[in-house]
This record gives sequence, structure tokens and C-alpha cells, in this order.
Amino acid sequence: MSQNKPWGGRFSESTDQFVEEFTESVSFDRELAEVDIRQSLAHTETLKRAGVLSDEEAEAIKRGLLSILEDIKAGRFEWKRELEDVHMNIERELINRIGRVGGKLHTARSRNDQVATDFRLYLKEQIKEILELLKALRKALTQKAAESVDIVVSGYTHLQKAQPIRLAHWFLAYREMFVRDTQRFADVYRRLDASPLGSGALAGVDFPLDRFFTAERLGFTRVLRNSLEATADRDFTVEFLNACNITMLHLSRLAEDLIIWASEEFGYVDLPDKLCTGSSIMPNKKNPDVLELIRGKAGRVLGDYVAISTVIKGLPMAYNRDLQEDKEPVFDAVRTLKGSLVGMRKIIEGLKPRKERMEENAGNLTLATDLANYLVQKGVPFREAHHIVGSLVGYVLERGKRMEELTLEELKKFSDLFGEDALELLKPSVVADRRKTYGGTAKESILKQLENAKGEDL
Ligand code: ARG
Repeated sequence: MSQNKPWGGRFSESTDQFVEEFTESVSFDRELAEVDIRQSLAHTETLKRAGVLSDEEAEAIKRGLLSILEDIKAGRFEWKRELEDVHMNIERELINRIGRVGGKLHTARSRNDQVATDFRLYLKEQIKEILELLKALRKALTQKAAESVDIVVSGYTHLQKAQPIRLAHWFLAYREMFVRDTQRFADVYRRLDASPLGSGALAGVDFPLDRFFTAERLGFTRVLRNSLEATADRDFTVEFLNACNITMLHLSRLAEDLIIWASEEFGYVDLPDKLCTGSSIMPNKKNPDVLELIRGKAGRVLGDYVAISTVIKGLPMAYNRDLQEDKEPVFDAVRTLKGSLVGMRKIIEGLKPRKERMEENAGNLTLATDLANYLVQKGVPFREAHHIVGSLVGYVLERGKRMEELTLEELKKFSDLFGEDALELLKPSVVADRRKTYGGTAKESILKQLENAKGEDL
């Protein structure tokens, strides 16, 4: 008989050491200890209302649970691998502390609805923290945008210089991605905010539990409607990990831009020394390791997302032990995403744009589109104007000149429609400010975008 297991009654041999090691989850799911106890406190109340526990019994259980919680928080709790998971560790300790009555806590509850409830409670807390971190990052980006309205930089497509933009436009572009991430996490939160508790192992329970009462005590806004699904569903982990994944993709793209911009060749930004690292062999190096690791960790979080998706695929209804594999990818992604959000916020706050370097690079050939548009305004079809200015670009390149150095006579060689006012266009900030459309890079448009951003980040 395997008396030391909570489920040992029907067994005649004690568990193989290997199985104990292979199946345990307490080494990682102890992360759920606090929410597990919170859940048990609510379940105790529900059991009391259902007439399963007397007032005294409920009091004894609650006191026991709270003393365990205290020890866990203080790091004094002794976790036992042979008790498999966080749930059974806490239950066994409760019985040790308060005696047989502790054994009543698990009435009308299975670890299947218990773990599903814990995990949803845990993710609700984590999402709230992630939303705060996203907000702090958005604020840092908005702040930098506000400081860089008057800096003009080249915008890129294909990583080739394209058209001048205001640097604020670039900061606000990334901010926009994090706005979407915020909405996505809020949406995941809304959908997972429902209580599985009272679903039992799969079929519901044969005690008169008021599931709505427990849900309310636990702060859930809804109760899951189908007990099979309530214990079998892990969609919320897939959605959550995908939200983490997409946010990491955004962080990774931003990291990549900054890594390039911090290179000597670009020299667009200075990264704060305290956020960079050196080389053990090359005294000259200042490396953007935090950014590189954020970029790298995006791969890792995608892995977490793929892992959980493949664990779920093909599981028969309802709970299967495979679902224990949902924890580590989620814990890993939570830790990785939170760290990356903090790291990126610090980088953005400490970032110093190098205005001269950016502006020196913003002009020249990036001014070409506007010269073509100038001719279009004089009635030349755009295709022809494109061709005329194309030859002009060839001329400038051949002579090793910059567009800004062109004289009116030179312009006229390509089209006599060019007038004095065309020379006005040969300035990056002028070119940027002509793009006044909604969402465009003109100063007046940027100021509106900034105004909105500031309102949203409060
Ligand atoms: N540690 C398990 C998990 O994380 C708890 C549920 C176990 N249920 C069971 N019937 N073995 O999924």
C-alpha cells in the first residue's frame, strides 16, 4: 500500500522513484501557492454555505490555510516532491497542522477544477502587471516623441533611405504597436475571467455548491458554463502566450532598429553606458546586449507559444495530465516578457538621439519624391515626373553632389517647369512638413498624434 500519497488507497505498491521525479510539478507550480490558498479560502466558504462544513470546521481550515500562507511567503515552507504538486503539498500540510478536519477541504473539488482555477487567477494578476509595464513603456515612448518633434531623420523602407520623417513619428509608430498589445492583453483578460471551480473532475459535483458565490468571492466576473470544458480548456494559455509573443515581436523589431542606429556607421543614437556591456577582449567595445537579448528572447517566447499549442492539440475530452505541461511555458513567458518590457523602457528613457547626425543623413536623395510631386503640381503626369527626377538623381550621383546643392539652372536642364520655389523643397524638414495627412509626418500632424498619445497614457 502506498500510504504516503493522498491517492494511495487503491495502490498496492509504492511509487517508483522515477515516476515521482518524472511526474512531479511542485518544483515549478509552487508559483501558484498564493492563488491556490486564496481559492481554498473561497471554497471553504462555499462548502460552509452548502452545509458540508460547520462554522468551527470552516474557521479551523481558514486559520490553517492562513498560517501555511504565512510560512510560504516567509520562505519557511518545506515543499515535498513526493507530494507531487502545489495542491497536494498544501493540503497535506493543512492536515498536519489542524488534524482530520483538514481532510474535508477537498470535498466537492478535484485538482482538475482546482488547477484550472488557480491558473486563471494567476494569469489575471500577471496580466494586470504586464498592462502596467506596457503603460510605462508607452509613456517613455510618448515622452521621447515629445522631445524629438524638431528632429528630422531619414525614414527607411528596405533599410534604404526613403523619405525624411520627424523622429517623433518613429517613436509614436512603436508606441502604436504597444497600444495594440495593451488592447490584446485586456481582451485576453476579459475572456479568461471566468471561474471553473465547482466543475469537479469533469462532470460537476454532487454537493449543492453555489458556483456563482465562489466565483464572486474570487473576483471572477463569470462562471464557466460547461464543466467538461471548464476542466479541459487551456485556450486562455494559448491566447495569453500569443499576446506575449506578439509583444515580444514588437520589442524585437524596436531592438533591431536601435541596434542598427547605435552602430558607429549610423551613429543616430547613444545608448546609456549603464545599460550596455563591454567586451572581455576588445577595450573599444560598447555592446547593446540588453537589446540583443530582447531580440533573442522573442524566439524563446514564440517557442513557449508553440509548445502549449502542440500540447493541447489532439487531447481527448476532458482533463489529461498533459495539461500539466501548460505551466512552464507560461511562467517562462511571463518572466521573459516582464524583463524585456522593463529593459526596453529603461533603454528608451536613457536614449540620446544625435540630431546633427540624423539631419545630415535625412536630406539629399530622400528629397527626390517631392521634386517629382512639384512637377506633378505643374501638370506633368506622375510617371513622367518620376522619370525626370530619376535622371536628376543620376546627375547628382555622377557629380558626387548632394540634392541640396543643386542650383535653379541645373534644375531647369531637366525641366523648365522648375522655378525658384522648387529650391525651397530641398530641405528635409520642409519635405516632412508637406505630409499633413492624418497620421502623416508633418509637424502639425505629429503634434495631434502626440496630443492623443498623452491623453491615452494617463
Ligand atoms: N499538477 C496537475 C496539473 O498541473 C494538477 C491536476 C492533476 N490532476 C490529476 N487528475 N492528476 O495539471
